[in-house]
Amino acid sequence: MDRIRIIGGAPLHGAIPISGAKNAALPLMIASLLTEDTLELTNVPRLADINSLLRILGNHGVDYTIAGKRPGQTAETGQTIRLSARHIIDTTAPYELVSTMRASFWVIAPLVARIGEARVSMPGGCAIGTRPVDLLIMALERLGAEIEIDRGYVIARAPKGLRGGEIAFPKVTVGGTHVALMAAALADGVTVIDNAAREPEVADLAACLIKMGAKIAGAGTSRIVVEGVSRLHGATHEVLPDRIETGTYAMAVAMTGGDVLLQNTRPELLESALEVLRRAGTDIVASNEGIRVRRNGAAIAPVDVTTDPYPGFPTDLQAQIMALMTRAKGTSRIRETIFENRFMHVQELARLGARIRLDGDCALVEGVERLKGAPVMATDLRASVSLVIAGLAAEGETTINRVYHLDRGFEALEVKLGRCGAQIERLRG
Ligand code: UD1
Repeated sequence: MDRIRIIGGAPLHGAIPISGAKNAALPLMIASLLTEDTLELTNVPRLADINSLLRILGNHGVDYTIAGKRPGQTAETGQTIRLSARHIIDTTAPYELVSTMRASFWVIAPLVARIGEARVSMPGGCAIGTRPVDLLIMALERLGAEIEIDRGYVIARAPKGLRGGEIAFPKVTVGGTHVALMAAALADGVTVIDNAAREPEVADLAACLIKMGAKIAGAGTSRIVVEGVSRLHGATHEVLPDRIETGTYAMAVAMTGGDVLLQNTRPELLESALEVLRRAGTDIVASNEGIRVRRNGAAIAPVDVTTDPYPGFPTDLQAQIMALMTRAKGTSRIRETIFENRFMHVQELARLGARIRLDGDCALVEGVERLKGAPVMATDLRASVSLVIAGLAAEGETTINRVYHLDRGFEALEVKLGRCGAQIERLRG
């Protein structure tokens, strides 16, 4: 199993190209199931999760090609993937495939909308409630799907097609909003989605669906209105920049000090996180080329952060800001409101010398003078990258085990950081 070795202490200087957003690319790829025509996606990141989803789509009968590089393209240019779901050969998404990635459950929406049936394993095989998909199911029911739960599978049927309806989410859910959008696009009549997620990835999916012929108004706000159409056609769409990758590298620079230009990304995708970084003492300047992040000499100031749905501070950057705050001058308070148990990184950060006390959904982080390198274990995608950030500032050597978590969501991490002066390498095997 691969490991990452970091020798901490070097400031970061240079430029980091930001990849296309994994969390946008996944629903966009799933949207290919809505049409017989070809959907071409550009700027798709090279990540393990993308490959897992390609396997799942392939199992449904989607033909895909991944285009090679063209003249003028660099190593950083994302992939172009063409997906064609002309013939759906199987409407079942089996446990072995779905359990590797939760988002693959979302195939249920285009399958039931276009084919009239879908049989999709519950993610992780857990009961609804503990690892819930209840709101996704509710959304489909609102559009007339009949739902049956059988031996770990959710079976959705709508032999006469879906019909428009009112979907009011009691809680903001990104996956629920993606599912509702895709299903409503092909439903008969008008659907109103209330308390919709406002995440940029939702707006990106809607923009692509509109190119495919869908009639959608209000994406990016909490009320989305969809007028169903009988068929969607092919389109070409560029995946938007990854705001979580952007925020992660911004926090890495804030941690080590230095001066880095984050290229091909946009500040409006992560204003709340950039604002927190400014409060922490980082200089952030937006330009046409991207976002320039600098911290020269100034101490890291402690911050008070609460995760919230967009436009609030993203839960997917919570572990990273915590890593940064381990070196702040003072005590920070970080509250997680989206997911329970999303503090698995705390114990590993403590192995590097961090002082963190958990109190319910709050973490109190008392900044320390220095972190010391140690072997640590990646527990999930965002937790593992917080260990990278901490390792970059720790004295001596940090080795991170189980980096397959990182490969799910961060493209060429060690290459991007290494080019900016970090002493970081992947140990194969
Ligand atoms: C997406 C992101 C993930 C991010 C999360 C929150 C992708 C591939 N993943 O995950 O990186 O951390 O948004 O920004 O885009 N919930 C229910 N019932 C449901 C569905 C969700 O109770 O049926 C709850 C969840 O347990 C959680 C909250 O709603 O507490 C938000 O989850 P949701 O926005 O749905 O997350 P995902 O779409 O799975």
